[in-house]
Amino acid sequence: MGSGYLGATHAIGMALLGHDVVAMDIEKEKISLLSSCELPFFEPGLGELLRKCMESGRLRFTTSYDDTVEADIHFVCVGTPQLPGSLNADLRWVETAFTELARRICSPAIIVGKSTVPTGTARRMAEIVRRHSSDPRVEVAWNPEFLREGRAVEDTLKPNRLIFGVESPHAEKLLRAVYRPIIERGCPVVVTDCTTAELTKVSANAFLAMKISFINAMAKICEATGADVLPLTEALGYDDRIGRRFLGPGLGFGGGCLPKDLRALCACAADLGLDDVALLIRQVDSINLSRRHRALVLGRELLGGTYVGKRVCVLGAAFKPNTDDVRDSPALAVGVAAHAENAHVVIHDPVAMNNAKRAHPELEYAETIVEAASEADLVMLLTDWTEFIDMDPELLSTTVRSRNIFDGRNALTPERWHAAGWNYRA
Ligand code: UGA
Repeated sequence: MGSGYLGATHAIGMALLGHDVVAMDIEKEKISLLSSCELPFFEPGLGELLRKCMESGRLRFTTSYDDTVEADIHFVCVGTPQLPGSLNADLRWVETAFTELARRICSPAIIVGKSTVPTGTARRMAEIVRRHSSDPRVEVAWNPEFLREGRAVEDTLKPNRLIFGVESPHAEKLLRAVYRPIIERGCPVVVTDCTTAELTKVSANAFLAMKISFINAMAKICEATGADVLPLTEALGYDDRIGRRFLGPGLGFGGGCLPKDLRALCACAADLGLDDVALLIRQVDSINLSRRHRALVLGRELLGGTYVGKRVCVLGAAFKPNTDDVRDSPALAVGVAAHAENAHVVIHDPVAMNNAKRAHPELEYAETIVEAASEADLVMLLTDWTEFIDMDPELLSTTVRSRNIFDGRNALTPERWHAAGWNYRA
C-alpha cells in the first residue's frame, strides 16, 4: 500500500526476493509510470531492478484496493508528512490504508506497518482493524524501514537489521518467511512488540539528527574560539564509541524524514509530559535550522555586507547528493533566503532541478555549473554532489565576476581555492 519512495522500493525488493507482489497507490500518474517501468523519482540502480521485476511477472501495480485483498501479507508504506502548523505527523493516509484493507480482507492476513509513525499508532491501527474487519484473525504488525535515499537498493537488499514488531508467534513466523533470504545471509533480527518497533525507527532518525546537530554545536564553539572543527571531527571519529559517520559539520540535515520525525518525537515527548526529552529534541532541530541562517550570514560577509543586487550562484537544490528530493532542503532554504534579501539567485543541481522549479518557480535555474556561476558575485556550494566537489577553481575563475566561494558542506579543499585567488569561507 503506497508506491512512493518507500513503497515502490519495498515492492521491488519483495519481488526480487521471489514473492508475488501487487503494489497499490491512489495516484494514477505514479502507477502508470511504474507500470511502464519508469520510476517517479531518482534513485540510482532502482530503475533496472524495476524492469527486471516487471519482466519476471512477479510485480504489478494497481490503483484499486480490491486488487490487493488476496495477499497473505500487506505492507503499509504510505507517507506520514508533518501536519501544517503542527509538530505532529499527518496520519490520515495510514488510517485510510488500514481501514480500507480491513474492510476488504476476509482471510487471516497480516497488515504490517512500514511507515514511520508516532508511538501508539500500531495500537490504534489494531483497533481500526478490529472494528472494520469481518475476520477476527487479521493481525497488525510493525516492521520499520531504515532505507536512505540514494542508497535505497543496498539498504533494501542488504539491511543492517530487521525489526519485527509482532503480537503473535504467527506474525513473527510469517515475517521470517518473507525475509528468509536476507536472514539466511546473516542479517540480525530484533523481535519485539509493535510499540517498541515504532519507536526504534523514530529514535534511530533522532539519534542521527542529534549527531549532526552535536557536531554543528561544536562548530559554533570552534567559530567563537578560533578552533577548527574539521580536525576536531577527525579526532572524535577515531573513537569507535563515537564514530566518524554522521559527524559532518555544515549546513545540516533536511529531507522528508529526519526533520519531521524529530518534530513528531518532540510532540510525542511533550504529550507524555516528558518536558526534558522534548527540550533535548527541540534543541537538535533548532541548532540544525540555525546553520541555514549562519550560511546566509557568511555569504553576506563575502559579498561585503549586502545581497541587494548581487548575483549568487547556488550549487545544489536536493537535500543531499544522489537524490532529486527537495523536501526541507537546506540548500533551497538558503537560496530562497538570499532571494528574499534581493539577490539574483541562480541555482544548478544535477538531478533535482525539476522538483526545485516546481517548489520555487520564483528562482532562476541554470543547466550547468558554469552557466549558473556566470558573472556571479558569490558561489555557494550547498549540496555536496561529487561534481561540485571536483570543480576546477581556475576554470570557474574565468566565468564569475568576483571570486567568492562559500562551502556549506566543508566539502572543498580550501588550499586549492586560495591558490586560485578565491575568498573561501566554510
Ligand atoms: C534518513 C535515515 O538515514 C534513514 O535510515 C531512514 O530510513 C530515512 O531517513 C527515513 O526515515 O526514511 P535520508 O532522509 O535518506 O535517510 O537521509 P540521510 O542520509 O539520513 O541524510 C539526512 C540529512 O543529513 C541530509 O540532508 C544530509 O546532508 C545531512 N547530513 C548527513 C549532514 O548534514 N551531516 C552528516 O554528517 C550526514
